[in-house]
Order: sequence, then C-alpha cells, then structure tokens
Amino acid sequence: MDKIVVASGNKHKLREIAEIFKGYEIVSMQDAGFSQDIEENGETFEENALIKARAVCGALSLPALADDSGLCVAALGGAPGVHSARYCGRHGDDGANNALLLKNLEGVPEKGRGAYFESCVALVFPDGREVTASGRTYGRILFAPEGENGFGYDPLFYSDELEKCFGMACAEEKNAVSHRAKALSALAAKLKEGRA
Ligand code: IMP
Repeated sequence: MDKIVVASGNKHKLREIAEIFKGYEIVSMQDAGFSQDIEENGETFEENALIKARAVCGALSLPALADDSGLCVAALGGAPGVHSARYCGRHGDDGANNALLLKNLEGVPEKGRGAYFESCVALVFPDGREVTASGRTYGRILFAPEGENGFGYDPLFYSDELEKCFGMACAEEKNAVSHRAKALSALAAKLKEGRA
C-alpha cells in the first residue's frame, strides 16, 4: 500500500483524510518524523496547501498531502478565508474565532449570512509531480452555536446539503458533503485517471 504523509498537525483533519482517502497508508507528519513549523504565508488556499506539502515532501522524501481550508463569509468580503485558523489573532483558538465571527455578523439577518467552506488539497511527490484539487460546501452562519461535533467553525455552520448544523452532524454525515471530502475525492479521481 502506498504511503502518504499528511502535512498537518490537526488530528481532526488527519482522521477525516484517513476516512476518505482509503487504499493508502496515511501517516501523520509527526509519526513520519517531521516536527518543524511551516510558515503558511500564501494568499490562497492552493498556495498554502502547496507550501505545506512541498516542505514535508522535501524533508522526508515521501509523497506528502496537505490541505488548506477555511471559511468564507460573503457579508465579510470573504473573511476569514485563508486567515480562518487565526481570525481572532491567535492560531487555533476555535472559541475566540467563533465569538469574533458572531460579533462581526451582529445585525446581519439570516438571508445575508451565506458562507462556504473551501478546501484545497495538494499532493507532492519526491519526483517533483504536484497535483491539486479543491472543493466547497455551502451554507450559512447561525446566530448561536449548535452541537459539539467536528471542530473549528462547525458549531456555527448550517449546511445547506445536510439541512443541519455541522456541529450536530456525525463524521459520516459531514464527510458525505464536506469541502475536504470533495477536494480529496477530486484528487483521488485525478490519481486514478493517471492525471497526476
Ligand atoms: P488550516 O489548518 O490552515 O487549513 O486552517 C483551517 C481553519 O479553517 C481551521 O482552523 C478552522 O478554523 C477552519 N476550518 C477548516 N475546515 C473546517 C471544517 O471542516 N470545519 C470547521 N472549521 C474548519
């Protein structure tokens, strides 16, 4: 079975990737021996995904898969976008990120709260091949959190496809419609068709 190192320290993402990307041995970058910080200074999800995958592939000489993702809210001009993980100013503080999102949407009625999650995945091989794919899932931002499942902005994101909040969805339900699942499926299809 081909080994792919996932260039992410986020265990929620790793689990989602392993559940979707079956048929490969999925290893976390820590388990593969990579522990450096990677500066994600790209301006798009694709640039950041490539930065991460190239860094890990270059260091380990193994195929590396990275995802860069975030939430884009139309009423906020697409924010938090590539800054989703550090919207509040600190990296990965989900509670503070969600509180700031609600604050910035104060007074915006339901019909103005449209949003989508976007994911770009990049797979970089030691021979220099690079394959990318992206996916989106649409919905709107609720007025208060619902449920405790998932991570990040999930408790505030009402999914149009599931007709419920991601915070109330089990992993299987979310994986059926998620931005990351769509991006990974598109990437797997490219690999299968030999477009990589
Ligand atoms: P990344 O690790 O740089 O890709 O940052 C992604 C950030 O976007 C996360 O820390 C979350 O805040 C947000 N995000 C991305 N995907 C999801 C998701 O599936 N659910 C909830 N939040 C997400």
